[in-house]
Amino acid sequence: MKLFLDSANLEEIREVAGWGVLDGVTTNPSLCSKENASFEDNIRAICAVCPGPVSAECVSLEADEILVEARGLARLAPNIAVKIPVGLEGLKATKALHAEGIAVNMTLIFSAGQALLAAKAGARFVSPFIGRLDDVSEDGMALIEEIAQIFENYRFETEIIVASVRHPRHVIEAARIGADIATVPYGVMEKLVRHPLTDLGIERFLADWRKVKK
Ligand code: E4P
Repeated sequence: MKLFLDSANLEEIREVAGWGVLDGVTTNPSLCSKENASFEDNIRAICAVCPGPVSAECVSLEADEILVEARGLARLAPNIAVKIPVGLEGLKATKALHAEGIAVNMTLIFSAGQALLAAKAGARFVSPFIGRLDDVSEDGMALIEEIAQIFENYRFETEIIVASVRHPRHVIEAARIGADIATVPYGVMEKLVRHPLTDLGIERFLADWRKVKK
């Protein structure tokens, strides 16, 4: 499974790239609003650090305007995937962008029907938001299973990005189901590495090492 970092913070992205586990980055307007650099400069810098797909989100709502915005974003770097919220206008834009060879990450997916239409329109990625579904007492991971089954049935090449990840278990379950990608916030990425028994084990080994005759 590929791991993307769900962040617009260059330091976090550099750090995780250094761990050797970074396959891509997803940003959104909320994440970008936390950064000091201008939006375009920040996206260009992220694309230089991360060779994998970097999602940058369109904020236009009409297909014609989405197209203009998406083409502009795609010109920022060769590894841009334009993020477009699912909807009728978004689908029209996705169809045109797919024909132009621009990768689309169709975002804010909350149902299998939305994912199916996004795939048919030519989206390279779909981003189902599982944490936000869990937040309203629905089963986010069940949606991932449903979409994965549908994409497998019809051999869609569209990749599933498990998004709105809240804790390490989300990542493990996504991997168990066979989702293509999980986009993970920095804090959750760190938690994936840590285990109290590992820390305790290191502490004990170091204490015992001090007793070894040298
Ligand atoms: C994904 O592409 C989104 O940026 C993100 O996962 C949304 O997560 P949130 O629900 O924590 O805002």
